[in-house]
Amino acid sequence: MSLDLIVNGQARHVAAAPTTPLLDVLRNELDLKGTRYGCGLEQCGSCMVLVDGEPVFACAREAGTCAGKRIETVESLADHPLRAAFLDEQAGQCGYCLSGILMSAKALLDRTPHPTRAQIVEALEPHLCRCGTQSRILRAVERAAAALPEGAQRLGAMS
Ligand code: FES
Ligand code: FES
Repeated sequence: MSLDLIVNGQARHVAAAPTTPLLDVLRNELDLKGTRYGCGLEQCGSCMVLVDGEPVFACAREAGTCAGKRIETVESLADHPLRAAFLDEQAGQCGYCLSGILMSAKALLDRTPHPTRAQIVEALEPHLCRCGTQSRILRAVERAAAALPEGAQRLGAMS
């Protein structure tokens, strides 16, 4: 059995059953290890990816349901302001939760480039961070929003 997927803008053909969890296809077939397994029960958010722009728990989504759709993983964020902002804020300790959080933050900024603190909190609600770096994570998303072209003037207002 095989699947045709579009991952981070590239067409990918993988030998996997359609019922295989998307997380397993990404990590084991495509060697995209940035997306992480936490609970496997849609309760921690460490496996979050975007499918057609919407956050999806990759641990629970069958890969076959994503055929022909646009899948984005944390590896696609190398040049995104979120990456620099999370580094600048040191928004993590162990970092295990961050790849999923970054993807939910990306989805938020794509639809709401300058979110309020409440909107950021709501967007990140599905995610657990056991290290307790939530306040730095929230600041990092705000910093990334301020770094988006039309929001550059907001960075000074945050400090
Ligand atoms: S591993 Fe998917 S939500 Fe926890
Ligand atoms: S930084 Fe360790 S779980 Fe979030």
